[in-house]
Amino acid sequence: MLSKKIEKALNRQVEVEADSSQFYLSMASWAETQGFNGTAKFLYTQSDEERMHMLKLVRFINERGGHAIVPALKQPPAKFKSLSDIFESLLGHEIKVTEEINGLVHTTLEEKDYTTHNFLQWYVSEQIEEEAQARTIMDKLNMIGNDKGGLYLFDRDLENMPAAHD
Ligand code: FEO
Repeated sequence: MLSKKIEKALNRQVEVEADSSQFYLSMASWAETQGFNGTAKFLYTQSDEERMHMLKLVRFINERGGHAIVPALKQPPAKFKSLSDIFESLLGHEIKVTEEINGLVHTTLEEKDYTTHNFLQWYVSEQIEEEAQARTIMDKLNMIGNDKGGLYLFDRDLENMPAAHD
């Protein structure tokens, strides 16, 4: 059975994952309108992944006797300056999500909730992979700069890049 404090903290994480999904969906949509179809495909998949992260939390909260609350949708930014702008935002966002997860893990230890602590280990590993992938992508974009040919190849590569945990 979840304590009220853990239930609340997990529901807060449901919101964080839902926001991530919305944010990446908006990035995907912008990329698609700019003709970056590989990037769009990658970001649509990332958005789906975040929804899966949210769903996993929803199911866990309910299984443990809590009540998962579906949060309101927030409007994410609709426009981006460039692919670098997108992936810088994505990396910054993932760093914040990692902080949230770490805070959550800390709370489970304070509350001596080892079941939830164990459940969250999956998210801890996932964050390491997602941050690493976002950094790799940023490194590539920094090398490419504004080179049109480079950006074309980057976009094509991203079409076939698997999601972080695959
Ligand atoms: Fe669910 Fe990308 O963190």
